[in-house]
Amino acid sequence: MRTLVIDHPLVAHKLTRLRREETSSTTFRLLAEELVTLLAYEATDSLSVQPVRILTPVAEMTGVELADPKPLVVPILRAGLGMLNGMVKLMPTAEVGFLGMVRDEESLLATTYADRLPHDLHNRQVFVLDPMLATGGTLVAAISLLLDRGARDVTAICLLAAPEGLQHMEEAFAGRDAEVTVVTAALDERLNEKGYIVPGLGDAGDRLYGVV
Ligand code: URA
Repeated sequence: MRTLVIDHPLVAHKLTRLRREETSSTTFRLLAEELVTLLAYEATDSLSVQPVRILTPVAEMTGVELADPKPLVVPILRAGLGMLNGMVKLMPTAEVGFLGMVRDEESLLATTYADRLPHDLHNRQVFVLDPMLATGGTLVAAISLLLDRGARDVTAICLLAAPEGLQHMEEAFAGRDAEVTVVTAALDERLNEKGYIVPGLGDAGDRLYGVV
C-alpha cells in the first residue's frame, strides 16, 4: 500500500481552519471541497490517458484525454458526500457510484446499507472519498468490496488519517494483487477511546451537515 501525506502550505492552512471548533458548517463545507480538489490533484498523478489527435488554431498535434473506461469516484455516505464536488470539479467526466456505510459506535464495525456501484470494476481506476481514516474499518470494508468486483487500482482520499487506520489498511491489503493508495492532508497522533482521531476535527458528518 502507498500512503501520500500531502505537504503543501495551502493544504495545511485550509486543514487548520477546518479543524477549528468555531468553524461553521457553511465554511467547513467550502474548505472540505477546496481541500479535496488539492488532494485530488496529487491523487490523480497516475490516471490512465490515451493519445488524441487535435487541431490547435495553429497546427495539428497529438494530445491526451482520459482513457476509457472513465475513472469511478465513490463517496462513502454520509460524510464522503461532502468531498464529491471538490473531486468532480477536477474530473468532470468521471462516473460516480455511491456506497452507504455506517459504523457501529460501540463495536466500531462497518456495515453496508447502500450499494450503487457497477458490478464489474475490471480496468476501472477507483477513487474512494471518506474524510476520516480512523480505525480503518469502513475503508477496509469498502475497498475489499471494490477489489472483489475486479478493481485493481483503488485510491482512498481522506482529509485526515490516524496511524491505527493506516496500519489496519496495510495489514488488510498486504499480499493482495492490487494497487491501494491512501492520500491524506495529515497523519494525526492517535485515536481516542471513542475511535475519534486526535487532535482531529470531530465528527466529519456532523460538522458538514449538522448533528442528526
Ligand atoms: N469519524 C469522524 O467523523 N471523526 C473521527 O474523528 C473519526 C471517525
